[in-house]
Amino acid sequence: MDLKEKVRIIENFPIPGISFKDITPLLSDPDVYLETIRQLDILVDTLNEKPDVIVAPESRGFLFGVPLALKRGIGFVPVRKPGKLPCAVISEEYKLEYGTNKIEVHADAISKGDKVLIVDDLIATGGTLEATAKLIEKMGGNIIGIVAVIELTEVGGIEKLKKYRPKALISYPY
Ligand code: PRP
Ligand code: MG
Repeated sequence: MDLKEKVRIIENFPIPGISFKDITPLLSDPDVYLETIRQLDILVDTLNEKPDVIVAPESRGFLFGVPLALKRGIGFVPVRKPGKLPCAVISEEYKLEYGTNKIEVHADAISKGDKVLIVDDLIATGGTLEATAKLIEKMGGNIIGIVAVIELTEVGGIEKLKKYRPKALISYPY
């Protein structure tokens, strides 16, 4: 199944000049959703290292990280926006085009040496996933790779995340 045919492109959303990649058609058809998870699972196998746990940033990262964790029979750790997690957290701030964003994870969610796979729907500037990776490193986790459904190859994220071995099912230039 060619998943690229299922992604819907909306030009000039949310602001002029952005070519938005809408992944909701991957979710609305259960055969397509299952196939997406199956293909992500195969992509993880190409890393040649088995993760102990999957970490994903809210909210679209959950849509792919949770089913992939269930398929592989491993745990899932959510990375959330500030103030959502009830226990002690570790935070990381990262730059946006204008201003900053902050994300948090439970401080006891990862143990030193855990082999961690990071999952998200999209790699654009790589800011979200770099901040996620830093959270994992603060806890002593060993990042074995990053998998995403979509990568934008000319936006800089792939280069920025290179040391974490980013991989994606579908590529667009921007
Ligand atoms: C989107 C997308 C990725 C991130 C990619 O999330 O789901 O997580 O942006 O962009 P980057 O590589 O430039 O960081 P968004 O912050 O829009 O939130 P959402 O997942 O809650 O929709
Ligand atoms: Mg996101």
